[in-house]
Amino acid sequence: AGLADKYTRHFLIGTAVKSSELRSTLPSKDAPVCREFNAFTAENAMKWQHIQPEPGVFSFVMADQLIRIAEQCNGKVIGHTLVWHQQTPEWVFEDDAGNMISREALLARLREHIFTVVGRYKGRVTGWDVVNEALNEDGSLRDTPWRRIIGDDYIEYAFKYARQADPSAELYYNDYNMYKPQKVAGAVRLVKQLASKGIKVHAVGMQGHYSLFYPSLNEVEQSIAALINAGTKVAITELDVTVLPLPENAHTGADITQSFTAHPVYDPYVDGLPEEQQQLLADKYKDLFSLFLQHAGHISRVTLWGSTDGDSWRNNWPIRGRTDYPLLLDREGKPKAAYQAVAELV
Ligand code: XIL
Repeated sequence: AGLADKYTRHFLIGTAVKSSELRSTLPSKDAPVCREFNAFTAENAMKWQHIQPEPGVFSFVMADQLIRIAEQCNGKVIGHTLVWHQQTPEWVFEDDAGNMISREALLARLREHIFTVVGRYKGRVTGWDVVNEALNEDGSLRDTPWRRIIGDDYIEYAFKYARQADPSAELYYNDYNMYKPQKVAGAVRLVKQLASKGIKVHAVGMQGHYSLFYPSLNEVEQSIAALINAGTKVAITELDVTVLPLPENAHTGADITQSFTAHPVYDPYVDGLPEEQQQLLADKYKDLFSLFLQHAGHISRVTLWGSTDGDSWRNNWPIRGRTDYPLLLDREGKPKAAYQAVAELV
């Protein structure tokens, strides 16, 4: 039995599934992805860019395969994501002449997208990340084409459309750096404001792209507590822990990709992660999962952003082309010390 079976009384254990895996044949039941996980998020395939690449042209091949993988592995499907400012084509916000479209026109596009995508998977997707990364680090609403064209209520509309398209699906708000008090306060305001309009946010997703060096356990705990207090559940939606050195500003929320290019790429563990760092990673995961277990009644799911170290986007973010070790399974799909530490907690 894998990790998901061990944690079955506590919360779902999910993974992100890469597009290459969604273009391949079904994994066998004893493949790592099936053995260890019971919730499946498409790493990219359900993003607007991929699922509606051209106006009115939908591409469901990979998303359909995600549903089959979940069936094959007896797991849930998590929809990611309906509204985001990234991985969304420019045309969404423009007319044929390349001019910015009106509020009404963009709302119509949003509605069509959500009704088509959520409607297709009605009853088969457990919940949707309806809106992704809408907050600034100070908790205010981020300036995006969605907000510029529609107004602050674009979020409300997205949730309403999603609920109409599949009334039984859970609806989530998802964001990164959710261990920061101001940002979490922004999410709490959002949840309460939506509640005042009769819209339930079933869970707030804390992405969880962490490092060995941050955040502190206390920061994560305070955030979880604040969200629970606001009457919503918490999901850890994209967990990974980079072991590689990061510059000072790595967690400020600024576009650090820029500042990285000025520095030489530092990639210290290309020949494998030394024992000492394996242990640090195991300790970090152990602390995090212990905390999640303490709040298990309010945490619906913990999803790792990938299955094996080789699959992880952290090999390319925030610096391209490094060798990272952020997940629980090594490049051969074998459990690491971090896996053992997490497994031993239950
Ligand atoms: C990332 C994927 O992992 C990459 O493959 C892709 O190139 C960029 O997006 N926050 C999110 C995820 O909500 O969708 C992002 O996934 C990581 C950050």
